[in-house]
Amino acid sequence: MTRFDKNRRPLVIGIGGTTRAASSTERALGFALRGAEQAGARTRLFGGAFLHSLPHYAPESAQRTDEQRELIEAVRHADALIIATPGYHGGVSGLVKNALDTLEELRADERPYLDGRAVGCIVTAYGWQAAGSVLTSLRSIVHALRGWPTPFGAGINTLETRFETADTCSDPKVVDQLATVGQQAAQFALAFRSHHAGHAAAHAASDDADDARGSRVLALAN
Ligand SMILES: Cc1cc2nc3c(=O)[nH]c(=O)nc-3n(C[C@H](O)[C@H](O)[C@H](O)COP(=O)(O)O)c2cc1C
Repeated sequence: MTRFDKNRRPLVIGIGGTTRAASSTERALGFALRGAEQAGARTRLFGGAFLHSLPHYAPESAQRTDEQRELIEAVRHADALIIATPGYHGGVSGLVKNALDTLEELRADERPYLDGRAVGCIVTAYGWQAAGSVLTSLRSIVHALRGWPTPFGAGINTLETRFETADTCSDPKVVDQLATVGQQAAQFALAFRSHHAGHAAAHAASDDADDARGSRVLALAN
């Protein structure tokens, strides 16, 4: 099976949340992943509790924990990602950044880091200022990892918007915005896949034509 097997639904990996049980960041990420599922993707969530189980990434060490390997393998096989962070002191939280630093292990891959993958970005913060500035920071991190930030990113002001449960949100506009992030990530994965499938088909057709031409030349020579 190739990475872009046309019969396989794209896999969208969600990374985000905080250590809090009722993390609004993780709940926002859940809404976005459901948007990706509606657009035809499979999804997998690495939430706050999982991210908290990751040790601080140490590049000089060759040893990786099971959890680190689990995250690295999942991202290696992902077709798109959605990353959700709270704004902590004007930046991406250490918990989420540590998970992203762990992706350094993908540097020597055929698709290094997040190469060729759409990445939806979500930020929650107690105010619009950090929601906007941290969204820009998160997108810069995605660029550094060679990912493709989706056109729409969601900045959520959690002073105004409440996620009372994992499935409820006080603002239907925010629900729509989060679904858009998920849909754009999944749609890019599907478009990228059909582009690759088209390329592979064009290459195969051109190889067939070359073979046919070669056979004719041989037939004439004989
Ligand atoms: C350590 C810490 C630092 C924070 N720094 C900021 C900040 O700089 N700007 C801001 O708007 N909110 C800040 N907040 C508020 C969080 O971004 C906000 O409450 C967020 O929605 C928490 O996400 P959660 O519900 O997933 O835990 C901070 C919260 C904490 C705990």
